[in-house]
Amino acid sequence: MKKGKARAPRQVTIRKARMADVEPIHALITEFSRTESMLPRSRAYLYESLRDFLIAERGSTVVGCGALTIEWDNLAEVKSLAVVRPHQRKRIGTRLVKACLAEARRLGIGKVFALTSSPSFFEHLGFHRVDRESLPHKVWSDCLKCTKFPDCDELAVAIEMKVPPRR
Ligand SMILES: CC(C)(COP(=O)(O)OP(=O)(O)OC[C@H]1O[C@@H](n2cnc3c(N)ncnc32)[C@H](O)[C@@H]1OP(=O)(O)O)[C@@H](O)C(=O)NCCC(=O)NCCS
Repeated sequence: MKKGKARAPRQVTIRKARMADVEPIHALITEFSRTESMLPRSRAYLYESLRDFLIAERGSTVVGCGALTIEWDNLAEVKSLAVVRPHQRKRIGTRLVKACLAEARRLGIGKVFALTSSPSFFEHLGFHRVDRESLPHKVWSDCLKCTKFPDCDELAVAIEMKVPPRR
């Protein structure tokens, strides 16, 4: 590199996922599903849900992902949230969840929840713990696919969104 031309640190950007992101998202979720409390996702699921997904990108590398899935009237879930280990604790997870919340607000969704074994991560974003039973039964369909079911250690957290009243 020429003297005086130090390269700027590469920025992490958050954007909507595209078709080419499916393989890196799949690899990221598969890795964490082996070691962390995270549901594995098939490629079929990722193709079907691709429009729900956001990714964090550094250069051309996917370093994080997360999805906002509409579950019911006025209710959406943050799912499949993961940040590659070397980039954890750099607020990338925070930015992914904030982007999901912005999307929920845009859609006029009044409540967003997550099922998580890291409730304090969500609490720093304004989520609070809720009784799992307070969520519609439909949201437990994913749980049936989990190897831990029914001995689950995940807690439910939720945040109420300020959205305009419906006409
Ligand atoms: C959970 C996860 C997405 C957080 O992403 P991240 O980019 O590392 O988190 P951030 O840097 O935005 O964290 C912000 C704050 O949340 C809290 N936090 C971060 N990770 C946490 C964790 N795993 N558990 C509890 N609190 C956590 C901390 O207070 C942190 O602030 P600090 O670094 O100043 O102490 C990431 O650790 C991850 O990918 N974990 C493995 C996959 C996983 O378990 N996914 C399921 C999550 S529901």
